[in-house]
Amino acid sequence: MKVLILPDLQAAIARAADIIVKTVQTKPDAVLGLATGGTMLPLYDELAHRHRAGKVSFASTTSFNLDEYIGLSPEHPCSYHHYMQQAFFDHVDIDPARTHLPKGDASDPQAAADDYEARISDAGGIDLQLLGIGQNGHIGFNEPTASLGSRTRIKTLTRSTREANQRYFRSFDETPQYAITTGVATILESRKCLLIATGAAKAEAVARMIEGPLAAVCPASALQLHKRATVVLDAEAAEQL
Ligand code: GLP
Repeated sequence: MKVLILPDLQAAIARAADIIVKTVQTKPDAVLGLATGGTMLPLYDELAHRHRAGKVSFASTTSFNLDEYIGLSPEHPCSYHHYMQQAFFDHVDIDPARTHLPKGDASDPQAAADDYEARISDAGGIDLQLLGIGQNGHIGFNEPTASLGSRTRIKTLTRSTREANQRYFRSFDETPQYAITTGVATILESRKCLLIATGAAKAEAVARMIEGPLAAVCPASALQLHKRATVVLDAEAAEQL
């Protein structure tokens, strides 16, 4: 695991953007694994800025997002479909037909999950998987105790994750209880992983991921097994290392 500690949020985002842009410049038809959450918003802004400046094109890239809430339609303002549209897809030249997220409103969510896993495989797998980290050590929605061998499936969200994500919803009760998420094994099969964590609230989870035991109680620690994982941190997220 390569750990890059940058002085502040802006520097961390710039460094992560450099890695993504380089991947797409080297392989214009790269398959990108994308992530959501507050951490990624300044990153998507930076990528859109570089696109507008003519430095990168996503015209030939394919994307697969990590996860989606069950029960929310793509148009729901709190869905990850909506997030991706607003934060990134609307601002770059990516082909909408090549963007993929799990179908949270499918009548059979497990069948939708199986189909999603197959589509990733049919696309040739993920070249670069972007990841954030939950305060409890989750990646995607692989909550603590998720099997390290897991594939795309339905996960029940922990109370702490629902509380952390409640800020996007009107109330805790409206915050979804379930999600479709790619599995830990799906993530580990990506050719490269890039995890970004910023801010002091992530410091403990970051220390468990990097220095703690490899264990399902901290799903992000599975990245210790990955041969080409890079972790980009700002100083605050690195303060417990
Ligand atoms: C959600 C997402 C994760 C993300 C996490 C952290 O739970 N499913 O993929 O990493 O939030 O979000 P934030 O960046 O807002 O702290």
